[in-house]
Amino acid sequence: MTTALMSPAAQSPPADEAAASRAATRVLLGNWRGTTTVPSGSLYPHQWSWDSAFIALGLRHLSPRRAQSELEHLLGAQWDDGRVPHIVFHPSVPLTAYFPSPDFWRSSTVGRHRGAPAGVETSGIVQPPVHALAAWLVHLAAPKESRRRGFLPRLYPRLVAWHRYLADCRDLGGAGLAAITHPWEAGLDNSPVWDGPLGRVSPVEPGSYRRADLDHSAAADRPTDLDYGRYVRLAADYRDSGYEDARAGQAFAVEDPCFNTLLVLSEQALARIAAETGRDAAPHRERAARLERTLLARLWDPEQQLFAARDLLAPGGGALLPGRSVAGLVPLALPGLPRALASHLLDTLTGPHFRLGEVALVPSYDLRGEAFDTSRYWRGPSWFNTAWLVHRGLLTQGAHQQAAALREQFWRSAAASGFAEYLDPLTGAGRGARDFSWTAALALDLLRSEGNLT
Ligand code: SER
Repeated sequence: MTTALMSPAAQSPPADEAAASRAATRVLLGNWRGTTTVPSGSLYPHQWSWDSAFIALGLRHLSPRRAQSELEHLLGAQWDDGRVPHIVFHPSVPLTAYFPSPDFWRSSTVGRHRGAPAGVETSGIVQPPVHALAAWLVHLAAPKESRRRGFLPRLYPRLVAWHRYLADCRDLGGAGLAAITHPWEAGLDNSPVWDGPLGRVSPVEPGSYRRADLDHSAAADRPTDLDYGRYVRLAADYRDSGYEDARAGQAFAVEDPCFNTLLVLSEQALARIAAETGRDAAPHRERAARLERTLLARLWDPEQQLFAARDLLAPGGGALLPGRSVAGLVPLALPGLPRALASHLLDTLTGPHFRLGEVALVPSYDLRGEAFDTSRYWRGPSWFNTAWLVHRGLLTQGAHQQAAALREQFWRSAAASGFAEYLDPLTGAGRGARDFSWTAALALDLLRSEGNLT
């Protein structure tokens, strides 16, 4: 409670890079739980999928061993059908500490026929596939140690199975991209982009569950009760279907540009991992190229001048969703992005909708959008993981000056906010939890990597 609501003024902002590194390290050490890192000791007391991938990118500079453990523990809870669950629950944490808890998901019983592990409880939905990219970057930080421990050969088959699950079970649009079936799967839970498709979902009864997040964070910084009612409906229906993936059974099915960009980058990383471990890299390179072509063809929105999510259940068989989200800027990180599109995206990033360099980091939603909100989770606040991806995008597109400026703003605001979960983009004030693991990890990564793509 106190950490979540601590004001940024209560922190003494580290003035230099060394002090910021030390402060980030303290957060990561404090949130380490023996094999994995909790995203936040209060708000998120278990292991989260894409959090762990980002956290590993910071840990690789402190302890390659811990960075490897982070990813290996997550992939150790993979289901036999290849899915990597978005939460792996720590058995010692009380059920009341987080909702939806293991007794809601019931993975080890309801998910058994899809190959959910028997010895650990997990959620049944997924999060963006940034893991192969993270595994490759973790390897590059300490290649000798990684080879000695057989890190990549052990992870490779699991990462392949994960991508195969997305290809075989989540290509609900039939064009080759992966679809998400719950806003939590995007990672950008309450983005205004989901308002349309989520509005078709009937919320469960308000009194039928208890939100634990509001014990730890201000209600104005979190999704509304109405959104929660719909999240719970989607998750409960998916569980009650036995975690079966079929377009017919879904009330929400969307192709998201951030999710699919990360899949392309991870498939490219799988090609590097395959080459490093003496396997055939060509199928991964071909699949990455195919996915990238499809993403460009299906998700570029010429009207909004950025990438947009495609609602597969829109009347008429699918349509791009209105609203500019930071997810639509993440394709900047694609090395093969055509120059003309890169230039349009950079204009959108620096123009009135996102105002790079004039506001704190990169807002999660259009500053001029009607639904823009400075505080409410993914409806406007600036997040550090998406800023890290945009920073990578700027480097990839050769925008070195803008990347350097974003990097500096990143570590300074991370440290000054007490490693806040997210920032008010207009004032830079911290919002949500403090001592947030991926904020610390990615600040550390930018401090140590010094503008380097590895
Ligand atoms: N991000 C969601 C939460 O707030 C679910 O992973 O709990």
